[in-house]
Amino acid sequence: MSKQENQPMVRNVHSTQSEMTEIILPNDTNMLGNLLGGRLMHFIDLTGAMAAYRHARTHVVTAAMDHIDFIQPVRLGDLVTLKSSVNRAFTSSMEVGVKVWAENTRTGSVSHVASAYMVFVAVDEHGRVQKVPQLKPETPDEIRRHEDALRRREHREREKTRRSEARLVTATLKDAGAIEP
Ligand SMILES: CC(C)(COP(=O)(O)OP(=O)(O)OC[C@H]1O[C@@H](n2cnc3c(N)ncnc32)[C@H](O)[C@@H]1OP(=O)(O)O)[C@@H](O)C(=O)NCCC(=O)NCCS
Repeated sequence: MSKQENQPMVRNVHSTQSEMTEIILPNDTNMLGNLLGGRLMHFIDLTGAMAAYRHARTHVVTAAMDHIDFIQPVRLGDLVTLKSSVNRAFTSSMEVGVKVWAENTRTGSVSHVASAYMVFVAVDEHGRVQKVPQLKPETPDEIRRHEDALRRREHREREKTRRSEARLVTATLKDAGAIEP
């Protein structure tokens, strides 16, 4: 794993903050005129990647989208604004938080409609994993998110181990003919 040359060793959260606004058109909605969940996930992925790019200053790939709450529907014609920033940088991976608001264009009312946590991994042009600069949280909110991101990483790692153990048990049972292949 190599590190990008001429990169600062530490960045602040502010330098990763990213924002995107979209108007919701008929192609983005279901029969009820509500924004499709998959379309919203696409917007979240893009906005999350912007923050990760700003931190890593190299290619990044989405490794996980591990938590997303759809709090209320977004309607046809609404303006959707997504904001993201890096919560914590590890060795080559970064946890990014994305928060989404919808604005009713007629009334101007704005509501929080979704939040998500994602993990991006920095890679070079050949897809080889790269080190990223460390992230320095400064404000009380940034420090809280930084600490929470470590807890979520530990939870993710426990879940990964649990899933691979479950796959191993299934493969062993299949080999022994105890369950259908
Ligand atoms: C993400 C990817 C580069 C990781 O490759 P890998 O060989 O597993 O790399 P490593 O085991 O060295 O792990 C590299 C980092 O990724 C993290 N990582 C790997 N898989 C992860 C997962 N499922 N969730 C969260 N983090 C993950 C590791 O924790 C590690 O982080 P760290 O360096 O900060 O400690 C690789 O799995 C990949 O290319 N996946 C496909 C990405 C993609 O196509 N995304 C779009 C999907 S639609």
